[in-house]
Amino acid sequence: MNVRRSAFTSLLLILISGVIAACGSESATTAPTTGTGGTTSSGGKVVALFLPDAKTARYETADRPYFEAKMKELCPDCQVIYNNANQDASLQLQQAEAALTNGAKVLVLDPVDSAAAASIADKAKAQNVPVIAYDRLILNSDGVSYYISFDNESVGKLQAESLVAQLDKQGIANPTIVMINGSPTDNNAKLFKAGAHSVFDPLVSAGKLTIANEYDTPDWSPDKAQDQMQQALTSMGNKVDGVYAANDGTGGGAIAAMKAGGLSPLPPVTGQDAELAAVQRILAGDQYMTVYKAIKPEAEAAAELAFALLEGKTTDKATSKVNNGKIDVPSILLTPIAVTKENVKDTIIKDQFHKVDQICAGDFAKACTDAGIQ
Ligand code: BGC
Repeated sequence: MNVRRSAFTSLLLILISGVIAACGSESATTAPTTGTGGTTSSGGKVVALFLPDAKTARYETADRPYFEAKMKELCPDCQVIYNNANQDASLQLQQAEAALTNGAKVLVLDPVDSAAAASIADKAKAQNVPVIAYDRLILNSDGVSYYISFDNESVGKLQAESLVAQLDKQGIANPTIVMINGSPTDNNAKLFKAGAHSVFDPLVSAGKLTIANEYDTPDWSPDKAQDQMQQALTSMGNKVDGVYAANDGTGGGAIAAMKAGGLSPLPPVTGQDAELAAVQRILAGDQYMTVYKAIKPEAEAAAELAFALLEGKTTDKATSKVNNGKIDVPSILLTPIAVTKENVKDTIIKDQFHKVDQICAGDFAKACTDAGIQ
């Protein structure tokens, strides 16, 4: 019964994503008609973009529109097939198979499951379709042509260093923290965690820091992060000095649990993505920091790589190499930036990642004024 229901749900999601894909491709393929009354044709120039989840704001608000806009600029008559997998790896496989059947010539894939996605890259390779691993690496496949992402271990280090520095500033000796990591199927989550541990572990060994509870968060779900934080608070009798949260979604979940538990003031909490809600929490003092990753250059570089591959060309921009367990993948790794209240203006606002009137709307007007933003 459950199996049937989940098969039905998957079918429904495919149908829905097909509708979304149709809308997405339409917006990216507007080309002048020929005057014969015929429909526009992509002439076989089809690129498919696959993003992993819809709960994290970045994918629909930044990655997708920036990628589609750049593709349109580079290749007005290209068609972009778009799919969001809603954190479902088997749905993503079905979406990729459908795109290959529908003539996709290049796949740009941000995998829900970095290991399972090898079967997508292998299938694409068997059909001579190159694959770009977007933001998350695809492991153990030689079908990956390029990898474009950020230096993800450095993301984890920035988060941990910021948290340690802030706890130090507060003068807390041997602070007790909770770690809320990302999804165990996301290769990035492993790198964030490794980067963070490289900062925390020596302090733990020296008796200068205690990690009271540590969790991986299936699907990066903010709701699960909230449950985990609630469990941690119960086991610690609410005595927590800081929270390492791997992204803004999980950080938001942890903050919700602490507010519900009556903690005031809130201890410092980390994050990542510079989501609008997180930037507002930072200005309001509920979240300590986030990691800003400029998604525009990441998405645009992916579009440039995809277009080069479509044209049968290579690029000299992928100057790094990252081993995926099978091959060294030519890679572009961008630099993440730690953001606290002090540098929101010089980073996120300067780049217009979010506009001042969005950040400072409604209740956040005063926090913005206090931070010298408006
Ligand atoms: C991305 C993060 C994102 C997380 C959850 C990671 O792979 O790099 O930016 O917050 O996935 O979607």
